Amino acid sequence: TRPITTICCIGAGYVGGPTMAMIAKKCPQISVTVVDISQPRIDAWNSSELPIYEPGLDEIVFECRGKNLFFSTDVEGAIRDCEMIFVSVNTPTKKTGLGKGKAADLTYWELAARTIAACSESDKIIVEKSTVPVRTAEAIEKVLQRNCPHDGVRFDILSNPEFLAEGTAIVDLDAPDRVLIGGKIENAKGQAAVDALVGVYSNWVPKENILTANLWSAELSKLAANAFLAQRISSINAMSALCEATGADVQQVSHAIGTDTRIGSKFLNASVGFGGSCFQKDILNLAYICECHGLPEVAEYWHSVVGMNDYQKSRFVKRMISAMFNTISGKKISMLGYAFKKDTGDTRESPAIDVGHGLIEDGAKLNIYDPKVAAAQIALDMGEEAMKSITCCKTHTESLTGAHAVCIMTEWDEFKTYDWEAIYGVMQKPAFVFDGRLILDHQKLKDIGFIVYALGKPLDPFLCSAEGAP
Ligand code: NAD
Ligand code: UDX
Repeated sequence: TRPITTICCIGAGYVGGPTMAMIAKKCPQISVTVVDISQPRIDAWNSSELPIYEPGLDEIVFECRGKNLFFSTDVEGAIRDCEMIFVSVNTPTKKTGLGKGKAADLTYWELAARTIAACSESDKIIVEKSTVPVRTAEAIEKVLQRNCPHDGVRFDILSNPEFLAEGTAIVDLDAPDRVLIGGKIENAKGQAAVDALVGVYSNWVPKENILTANLWSAELSKLAANAFLAQRISSINAMSALCEATGADVQQVSHAIGTDTRIGSKFLNASVGFGGSCFQKDILNLAYICECHGLPEVAEYWHSVVGMNDYQKSRFVKRMISAMFNTISGKKISMLGYAFKKDTGDTRESPAIDVGHGLIEDGAKLNIYDPKVAAAQIALDMGEEAMKSITCCKTHTESLTGAHAVCIMTEWDEFKTYDWEAIYGVMQKPAFVFDGRLILDHQKLKDIGFIVYALGKPLDPFLCSAEGAP
């Protein structure tokens, strides 16, 4: 197979941007153009302030941009001029119509496919980078074949799901556990397309880490991987509730079970709930696919992972309210962290959104501080009505001064290094800490005078007595 020299990526988001930057860095012989329909997004990729925050990303983009990495809104031109097209558009949960609230919305994907069909004048290898329902490649192939005005143009479709996690995207892309490539390996042309993509990754990923599979296995593996990861979090979160009820300590339980090599230690951190744009969306989609295939029991099983996540968020809010003498009306609560995890400014499906709404519904006033999330994003997520009860703070001190309680929503490292003694001094008394990420030194906080609630940890006697108080 002739090595690929021109790549285009449709969708300059959290996946398209970093992934293409990494390909450009590792393959100086390949020209990579990332296109998007959003002019502001492309402008930001071409500026000194990139549209997403991701440790290590700036360096790579600044190194390759203008050499073999380009950002553009000329979608048609980029499609025409390349050999391989990655499609990395968003595939959110459908908001209306059939499968609303469950199925993946493939509007953007289909639009991208129609554009590819309309402007392709030569053979193209199409790479599904977006997370899609199993058998999407089949539908996309039909759209491509039936809409291409030029005779004899061949489209080979591959599935190459992305496993990067936000906050560690560059490290994940640099040394992936594995790269998965699905294609029609049963025929020679399909195998050649797979080989072409293997050729791209082989520039830096060891051959044994590049897995090939049939198309449907690759598509389904992505949904399965996210479902398994989220399932672990819901399982340990379920344990956190039981720990609080029994006096066990969830971190000790997690350590004890994680040392069993069959279970493994990763993704066993109890939290206020998982967030991010992928887990919930992909599980709902997986469950919907199960339903469509007449497997309601399987659908129900996966649904329960999302159900446990919702329970964990509402349990946290209830715990806060009951601890604070069953009323938070008019009380100022400092929310430290708003992003769905540390080292990202992304707020999609962040547990802070649901917890924030829960607290505001009970009359609280929120002072939100996050090192990377802009006030405008918080306003967009929370809505106009809730914003009447929210102050977006520029510093943690501003958020904590005069607060009755502080809740930790994101595990930002800087929260651990704050002067908690000084913080105690500026808060109302009794001063409460609700640690939804288990990152603080709880004994030290108690010694200072705080009343501490830490998820899944033995309950502070003060909290036990507040529980059920009138
Ligand atoms: P995103 O919303 O950040 O980016 C998608 C981009 O596609 C947007 O900038 C949008 O303007 C653009 N777009 C949509 N339709 C287009 C079109 N027809 N032509 C050109 N541009 C178009 O989304 P994301 O987080 O990068 O996710 C992309 C896909 O990757 C999703 O399917 C997601 O499930 C999957 N994924 C995401 C992650 C993650 O960590 N965010 C990880 C793995 C997989
Ligand atoms: C996830 C998958 O990890 C990644 O492979 C896929 O490509 C996209 O979806 P992402 O959502 O970016 O990545 O971050 P991840 O690290 O998986 O965290 C998701 C959520 O789970 C976060 O809210 C995080 O705080 C939470 N989490 C993670 C826990 O609550 N406990 C854990 O032990 C791990």
